[in-house]
Amino acid sequence: MKIISDIQDLRDQLRGQNRAVFIPTMGNLHEGHLSLMRLARQHGDPVIASIFVNRLQFGPNEDFDKYPRTFEADVEKLEKEGVYVLFAPTEKDLYPEPQEYRVEPPQNLGKILEGEFRPGFFEGVCTVVLKLFSCVQPKVAVFGKKDYQQLMVIRQMCRQLALPVDIVPAETIRAEDGLALSSRNGYLSAEERSEAVQLIQTLKEIQEKVLQGKLTSADILKIEKDACAKLNARGWVPDYISVRKRNDLLSANDADLSSNQPLVVLAAAKLGKTRLIDNLEI
Ligand code: PAF
Repeated sequence: MKIISDIQDLRDQLRGQNRAVFIPTMGNLHEGHLSLMRLARQHGDPVIASIFVNRLQFGPNEDFDKYPRTFEADVEKLEKEGVYVLFAPTEKDLYPEPQEYRVEPPQNLGKILEGEFRPGFFEGVCTVVLKLFSCVQPKVAVFGKKDYQQLMVIRQMCRQLALPVDIVPAETIRAEDGLALSSRNGYLSAEERSEAVQLIQTLKEIQEKVLQGKLTSADILKIEKDACAKLNARGWVPDYISVRKRNDLLSANDADLSSNQPLVVLAAAKLGKTRLIDNLEI
């Protein structure tokens, strides 16, 4: 595997490749990331990964400084997965001057859910993903459904800006007890780690209630409120637990509910100092 940090070197290395498949990451790779690499192989060749902890998508009080950086272990894992090139730019390589041109997603998608609680997050994500796409010029890119809203924001960015990149979604990989794998799980104490499973349990309970059918939008609001209260009573601080339509991530009205629009329930909640997100399609 070639490890390249310079944009021009990357372009030289990838010249003539027109089926490249790309997996952008922020490193600290776990089985979830590795499953993206394996899925990528089915969609193109060669497989290109990137590791870059993108300052633009972190708020001033978020975990940019303490975000786990495990470069050597990551390289070993990517080598085993047969990745052809790892693009690992430094901040100077990717942002040699202040990044003043930014991509701002539309309010109705970019400022809800994660966008409401992490102002500037999706602007930071879209800006870096567009820039990484411009460096790698992949035919296909793979994103995990664990970051459900991110996947949708990036898909729409590609569509609206006519970027010639197919976005492939990958299923969430979970630990045996159901907790979605995430680099941030490493922040949890042993006690928090056993409590963390309550997040997906709560989503499963909501999924079950919604699937029983014949609910109004008022019923859904009550289910969401009760779920927040339940987690709260166990010591969590939920940002949101929300049932949304899969196609636009807006709330479902009574007509949507009675016409069985595909739904997804999304949640973000803090357990101690760790903020976890998860979602479940209904
Ligand atoms: O999902 C992530 O790890 C990041 O948001 C991404 C897509 C690599 C952009 O920095």
